Amino acid sequence: MKELRFDGRTAIVTGAGGNPSLGRVYAMLLAARGANVVVNDIGSKHAPGAATAQGVVDEIVALGGKAVADTHSVATEAGANAIIQTALDAFGGVDILVNNAGIIFNTAFDEISSTDIQRTMDVNLMGPIWTSRAAWPHMKKAGYGRIVNIVSGSMYGFALQAAYAASKGGVYSLTRAMATEGKRLGIKVNSVAPGAFTRMVIGSQEEDCRTYQGTKAHMPAEVVSPAVAFLAHEDCPVNGECFDVMAGHVRRIYMAQTPGISVPDITIEKVAARWDEVMAGTSPDIFLVTDFDGFQRHDKPYKPS
Ligand SMILES: NC(=O)c1ccc[n+]([C@@H]2O[C@H](COP(=O)([O-])OP(=O)(O)OC[C@H]3O[C@@H](n4cnc5c(N)ncnc54)[C@H](O)[C@@H]3O)[C@@H](O)[C@H]2O)c1
Repeated sequence: MKELRFDGRTAIVTGAGGNPSLGRVYAMLLAARGANVVVNDIGSKHAPGAATAQGVVDEIVALGGKAVADTHSVATEAGANAIIQTALDAFGGVDILVNNAGIIFNTAFDEISSTDIQRTMDVNLMGPIWTSRAAWPHMKKAGYGRIVNIVSGSMYGFALQAAYAASKGGVYSLTRAMATEGKRLGIKVNSVAPGAFTRMVIGSQEEDCRTYQGTKAHMPAEVVSPAVAFLAHEDCPVNGECFDVMAGHVRRIYMAQTPGISVPDITIEKVAARWDEVMAGTSPDIFLVTDFDGFQRHDKPYKPS
């Protein structure tokens, strides 16, 4: 099979300044395969570690790649516009946008501060909206674009992550809506729910739990990047799809609807009487984590911003 390359393409990866992090490996793989890359990251106290966007750029350049750093925030429209402008100024266009920047606060729905709910939405949901809207006219004009939005398995409904789950579920739906509009413009938009040992795990989990140790031992970020890069490639065969990608797995995630019932003279009692039929056909393999202990996390104590 021919090597899948990105020569002449310009990619922006948001939130790519961490190490270990997912954004960094997306940026490095795209650059290694010939793309010009904008490595964006504001640095974050919620993602501990000294790594920066410039640090990842230095790594890419040392390996012979082309990259520039950008430190604007995805959380505001002005910041997002500036990120796209960095790509235009440095490389003359934008072909690929990986909306990867994200933050998380693990705590009960009634305990997370209003400020942190808003911050989660601003970075995780509004970020991809602002950056994609800023990139869209350029992709539209070029008749070509690839957007990969990073969501999370949390959107199935993980406990103690209500704001984070809602933000990622929003991006899942955003992806499908943008894909529908992008179809006639040559723009493909897909999403990935990754899993890997990163600063997000280090920052949010105690070292003694299975999530921390399991991801550290078996889930390097490097094995997530090939599927993300494929969705960012010209040969990407899908649009509006979502994939679970971790530890070498690449699995399609999709919405489902049961055959249900159809009752013209429906009443509350008829719904109650036929409830088993409403539910029949529900896929048993949806991974719905509602039990905090069952997930074997050990969250660090929550400290409001
Ligand atoms: N690690 C996992 O297992 C996992 C699971 C599901 C989803 N994700 C998602 O993957 C993405 C990458 O996370 P990661 O695990 O590599 O964690 P990470 O903390 O290493 O990376 C996220 C980066 O986003 C940056 N960032 C935060 N706010 C920003 C802003 N306003 N503008 C620009 N950059 C900003 C942070 O500085 C950080 O470097 C996130 O969207 C996360 O929600 C990760």
